[in-house]
Amino acid sequence: MDVRTNHAAQLTSSGELRHLLSLEGLPRSLVEDLLDRAESYLRPIGNPPARDNLLAGRTVANLFFEPSTRTRASFELAAKRMSADVLNLDVNMSSRKKGESILDTIYTLEAMQVDVFVVRDASVGIPELIASNVQPHISVLNAGEADAAHPTQGLLDLLTIRRHKPDFSALKVVVVGDIGHSRVARSIAQGLSIMGMRQLCLVAPPGLEPEPDDYPGAQITSELDAALADADVLMALRIQRERIAEQESLMTTHDYHRDYGITADRLKLAKPNAIVMHPGPMNRDVEIASTVADGPQSVIREQVTNGLAMRMALLATVIQANGEQ
Ligand code: CP
Repeated sequence: MDVRTNHAAQLTSSGELRHLLSLEGLPRSLVEDLLDRAESYLRPIGNPPARDNLLAGRTVANLFFEPSTRTRASFELAAKRMSADVLNLDVNMSSRKKGESILDTIYTLEAMQVDVFVVRDASVGIPELIASNVQPHISVLNAGEADAAHPTQGLLDLLTIRRHKPDFSALKVVVVGDIGHSRVARSIAQGLSIMGMRQLCLVAPPGLEPEPDDYPGAQITSELDAALADADVLMALRIQRERIAEQESLMTTHDYHRDYGITADRLKLAKPNAIVMHPGPMNRDVEIASTVADGPQSVIREQVTNGLAMRMALLATVIQANGEQ
């Protein structure tokens, strides 16, 4: 493989966001600017969506080497609403199926003057590998990297929380589910840490626990009911079966729902105004009861709306940063 460098910096020399590979280490001011910018792209329900010409003449390529509904659709719509040309590579019909390397795929698209690569891959390190090897005016946005990072999800989750609970320093956030295999959990934990949240509690069923070193400062437990006391924000995660070997024994879905599902009765253990989140895709009546997912405390559809706005903000931000280099 022809690799040009080994390390991609996310920020330009003047501190602007060039690539988004991970939330880890990003300055709080930069995260807040992204939240503000995304908020400026939100419109009241029923109004036409926000549009912007900032990406006119630019090209965004969506490369999804793992399945996606929300992230892929929202990046496509975000790019179109910013007036960009958009390429959605059909991975199953691409020459990667004939053995072409990921970097040769990138170099090929680079030669067609792509400005932003949006990348989801099942292997750790692919977004950074691409970022380390593209030309200096090109940006890479990590749209989901194995179990390691999902930074755009982390940012849209922060935006959703901030719109309901602006004072992060007062918040107790509970994340329940397959923490051990979850890139969503890693990214929201990093984002919450940047924003200075009060307490993060990770509830993991046996066998799905994270490495404690990956979550400095977080409480890790298997006791959901106790963890829910005083919770302001409750996030349910699905079991990432695609990352678990077939021979590993897992709880039945019935047992999982009984012990770890967010039900209407369990939700009463949290604060009365707690919000309920889920990154999707949901397994209804497994990790979350339908009545809760569709209930008054659920902000799950807001997360989707906020995701599109956040992806517009990210595209605008990296294009401007690259224009200023
Ligand atoms: N939350 C999330 O990443 O959803 P998709 O897999 O549908 O993109």
